[in-house]
Amino acid sequence: MAFTIKVNGNTHSVDVDGDTPLLWVLRDILGMTGTKFGCGLALCGACTVHVDGVAVRSCITPVDSIGKSEITTIEAIGATPAGAKIQKAWLEREVVQCGYCQSGQIMSATALLASNPHPTDSDIDSAMAGNICRCGTYVRIREAIKQAAQS
Ligand code: FES
Ligand code: FES
Repeated sequence: MAFTIKVNGNTHSVDVDGDTPLLWVLRDILGMTGTKFGCGLALCGACTVHVDGVAVRSCITPVDSIGKSEITTIEAIGATPAGAKIQKAWLEREVVQCGYCQSGQIMSATALLASNPHPTDSDIDSAMAGNICRCGTYVRIREAIKQAAQS
């Protein structure tokens, strides 16, 4: 079945089953591999994208649930005000280690900052709790979010 979805401001028609996860559509059909596959079970956050500005796990989001909503991925998050601040702070704080989780971390952090420009430690911990980093970059992530909030 054909679905029309809007990703990073561009409209795409994709011919897939309605229960196909958005993550598969992004990576395998649209070739946007910045969004990562980790667990496939909404447990790690590697696949986080924005749907109408809200961070969602694309691995459990069926494409037929998207409708006319606007999807934003890591490929375009730097074009948003909050995303630009987060990415700049990420670079300056040298947050990344292996990098695998970082697309999802940045998407969650950006959604937080866009909705709450001055998050407390508790706000940060709550917003980032679902994003797992096996390299343990959590301290730098929190510092970078605070830096971005002050910029
Ligand atoms: S791949 Fe979606 S939460 Fe882990
Ligand atoms: S930087 Fe390696 S998993 Fe997070």
